[in-house]
Amino acid sequence: MTDDVLLSARGLEVHFPIRSGGVFRRSSGAVRAVDGVDLDIRRGETLGLVGESGCGKSTLGNALLRLVEPTGGTVTFDGIDVTALGRRELRELRRRAGMVFQDPFASLDPRRTVAQTVSEPLEVHGLHGDRRERAARVSELLELVGLDPAVADRYPHEFSGGQRQRVGIARALAGEPDFLVCDEAIASLDVSVQAQVLNLLRRLQRRLGLTLLFISHDLSAVRHVADRIAVMYLGRVVEIGPAAAVGGDPQMPYTQALLSAVPVPHPELERSRKRTVLRGDVPSPAAVPTGCRFRTRCPSAFEPCPDVDPALQPVGQVDGHLAACHLHGVVGTPVAREDDAPEGPTPADAARAPRRAGRAH
Ligand SMILES: Nc1ncnc2c1ncn2[C@@H]1O[C@H](COP(=O)(O)OP(=O)(O)OP(=O)(O)O)[C@@H](O)[C@H]1O
Ligand SMILES: [Mg+2]
Repeated sequence: MTDDVLLSARGLEVHFPIRSGGVFRRSSGAVRAVDGVDLDIRRGETLGLVGESGCGKSTLGNALLRLVEPTGGTVTFDGIDVTALGRRELRELRRRAGMVFQDPFASLDPRRTVAQTVSEPLEVHGLHGDRRERAARVSELLELVGLDPAVADRYPHEFSGGQRQRVGIARALAGEPDFLVCDEAIASLDVSVQAQVLNLLRRLQRRLGLTLLFISHDLSAVRHVADRIAVMYLGRVVEIGPAAAVGGDPQMPYTQALLSAVPVPHPELERSRKRTVLRGDVPSPAAVPTGCRFRTRCPSAFEPCPDVDPALQPVGQVDGHLAACHLHGVVGTPVAREDDAPEGPTPADAARAPRRAGRAH
């Protein structure tokens, strides 16, 4: 890990066990919400994380902050192994790495004033000791997010959605974090307000040197706010790179399909654009297809796709642009077949035998 990387995940997994009913409640498989993610987030950058609903974006964001426990792999934050932290160290992590939630109304306590909400992290982390200092810090934070400090004594219901999200951001900034996960932070806001909150986040990021993971299903919003974009599908990062490259020259059919789904305001552009339409629904993360997990919906799937799990490899014209797709060369881990098991061949293996004629048994 180099010095310019703040947060790094290696082989990160979050598998939720599926338990069958009955007396013995056996575990019968798992929902592979995050299924082997390698990711570096650089200091001061905004990394956009996009993908369809259910592909594991929130679970990944939560696992990076250890708000859900990873079941495999490691997370390193500023050189610290997050997966090994004890309770006290975890509290310090919570100060340095926070979350801005999707629905500011649901995440703010209706019985607490803005001042109480924003100063809560100050109390929890023992910052800005006495009450007067905390009040001054609350005013400073409210100004920072573009709110009049005079609103400190008001309650959440007295605010518009955009203002409430500003309160949520002020709270997230109270502990002077280095890193924020913004999970669909603008999705519940009106379009005009979305732009204002996006601009606010960008300004704050530059001013405070924040590192942001910006989660969204809306690739067009992410293109304008992110330095780099990671595309997730069924628990895996399948394409990553500079925002202009991933958004303007996507190399993985899944990313191309996500972009085709974004409406283009200009009809001429719309007609000239190559469209890739996604077929069918996302498979269940409890039954991930073998090999390339996108192959069951991919218009370009070919022979190696079911047999080799593709690794991220350099693609396109720009440095740092990677995609996990065999169209760029077959690179990855061959899928283990039942006939690789020591018990001996089954009838299904016998049917596959001619394809593996060169292999010694
Ligand atoms: N606590 C849990 N127990 C079991 N399964 C879960 C749990 N949390 C999430 N999942 C499952 O993990 C998968 C990934 O969910 P996740 O919420 O991370 O997706 P997402 O990409 O954030 O989706 P959305 O865009 O809808 O927010 C889904 O299939 C979801 O049902
Ligand atoms: Mg989510």
